[in-house]
Amino acid sequence: MSAGGANSLWGSRFEGGPSDALAALSRSVHFDWRLAKYDIAGSLAHIKALFQAGYLTTAELDSLTRNLEELLRRVENGSFAAKETDEDVHGALERGLIEISGPELGGKIRAGRSRNDQIATLIRMYLLDQSNVIEQLLLEYIEVLTNSAEENMGVAMPGRTHFQHAQPVLLSHHLLAHAWPVARDIERLHDWRKRASLSPYGAGALAGSTLGLDPNLVAAELGLSGVTQNSMDATASRDVVAEFAFIASLVAINLSRFAEEIIIWASAEFDYIKLSDAFSTGSSIMPQKKNPDIAELARGKAGRLIGDLTGLLATLKGLPLSYNRDLQEDKEPVFDAVDTLTVLLPAFTGMVATLEYNKNRLELLAPAGFSLATDVAEWLVKQKVPFRDAHEITGKLVSYCERNNLELHQVPDVELAEISPKLTPEVRQVLSVDGSIRSRVGAGGTALPRVIEQISALRKLVAKKEA
Ligand code: ARG
Repeated sequence: MSAGGANSLWGSRFEGGPSDALAALSRSVHFDWRLAKYDIAGSLAHIKALFQAGYLTTAELDSLTRNLEELLRRVENGSFAAKETDEDVHGALERGLIEISGPELGGKIRAGRSRNDQIATLIRMYLLDQSNVIEQLLLEYIEVLTNSAEENMGVAMPGRTHFQHAQPVLLSHHLLAHAWPVARDIERLHDWRKRASLSPYGAGALAGSTLGLDPNLVAAELGLSGVTQNSMDATASRDVVAEFAFIASLVAINLSRFAEEIIIWASAEFDYIKLSDAFSTGSSIMPQKKNPDIAELARGKAGRLIGDLTGLLATLKGLPLSYNRDLQEDKEPVFDAVDTLTVLLPAFTGMVATLEYNKNRLELLAPAGFSLATDVAEWLVKQKVPFRDAHEITGKLVSYCERNNLELHQVPDVELAEISPKLTPEVRQVLSVDGSIRSRVGAGGTALPRVIEQISALRKLVAKKEA
C-alpha cells in the first residue's frame, strides 16, 4: 500500500491510491523521523487538551497516555520504525498508535489538529533542543580560546590590517578576538529562543480550531513559553527556522575566519604554530606532509551552511499564505546545519586546544614591517605636534629606514633631527614592542590589563551560561 492509500491520513476521498512516483516524491519520513519523540510529546499534550475539553473520558485519556508511552519506548528501542509505505513521521506514528490502541481509540487523537500545526511545532521543539547542544559546544570552544589566551599571556605577535603588518598585539588579544564573535553567537541563540518557544499547536490547518482545545495547556506541556497569535502565520511561517539557519551559518563563518589563519600560520613561511598529530592529517603520497584538514573542513563547511540557509530562504521567497507543501523543504537544510556543527565544533575545539605557538618567531616578527610607526606618530602628538604633521614626519622616517635598510630604532640622532627637529632621541623610548603594547591601555586595547579583563569577562559569561 502506498502513502495516501487506505492506511494513510487522507485516502478516503480518492478513488485509487497515489502513483508510486507521487509517493516517492512526497515521502519525508526518511528525514523527519528524527522528530518522532517530539511528535509523541505533542500527542501526549494534545490528548490532555482533548480530555479537558470533554472529548476523551478519563479511561480513554489514561489508556492513550499509556499507549503513547509504549509507542515512544518502541520507537526508542527500534521495535517500531517507519515503513516504506509511511508518508511522514505523523502518519507513521498514528499507524503505530492504532496498532497498540486499535482504530476506535487511536482514531480519536487526530481531532482538532493538523499536520500543519504539528510540524510547525515539532521543528521548533527539535531546534530548541539542538540549540542547547550547540550552545554547549560553543561554550567549550570559548573556554579553550580563553585558556590558550591565559597560557600564552605576554607573547607579542604581528597585528595585521589588509593582511599587512600593522601594529604589534598580544597573541592573547588575537585569540580573544576570535572568542567574542562566538559569545555573540550564543547571545543570538538566546534571543532566538524567545521567538522559537511559541507553540503553533491548535492553529489547525490554517484557520484555527472549532473544538475549544486550550493551546496554552499544550504549550505548557511541551515546555514552550506561549502560543502564536495568528493561526495562518503559525502554520505558514518558517522565519524561526531560517533565523536558526542564519545563526548556524554565522557560527561556521566565524570558525572559518580563524580556520583560514590557522592554515596560513601552519605553513613553513609563517611557522607561527604547530598542529598536534591528533588533530592533523598526513598525505597518502607525500610522507613529510602534515595537513590542517580540520581547519580546511571548517572553511569548506561554512560554505555548506551558507547553502543550507540560502536554500531555505529561496524556498520561502514568494510563498503565498498559508501552508504549502514547499514548506516540507525546511527540514533537511537545518538538519544538515545541526549535524554539520555538532561534528565540526568538537574537532575544531580540539585542534585549537592543542595548537603549539612558536613564541620566539611571533615575538621576532612582532616589530617587523615598521609596525611601531604609529607609536612614533602618537609620541609626536604627545609632544604637541598636530597629528597631520606627526603622520608626515613619521612617514619620512619610515622612508629613510627603507632606503637605508634600517629599523626605526637604529636611525642615528643627527638623521632623526634632520627629518624633523621634533624627533628627539627620546622617541626611542616608544620604539619597543613591549612599550607599544603596554601603552595601548584604552578600552578593549591590547595592553595586558585590558586582556586580563577580557579573560575574566569571558569566563564570567561562560560560567553564567553553564549555570
Ligand atoms: N511532511 C509535511 C511537512 O513537512 C507535514 C505537513 C503536511 N501537510 C500537508 N498538508 N500535506 O511539511
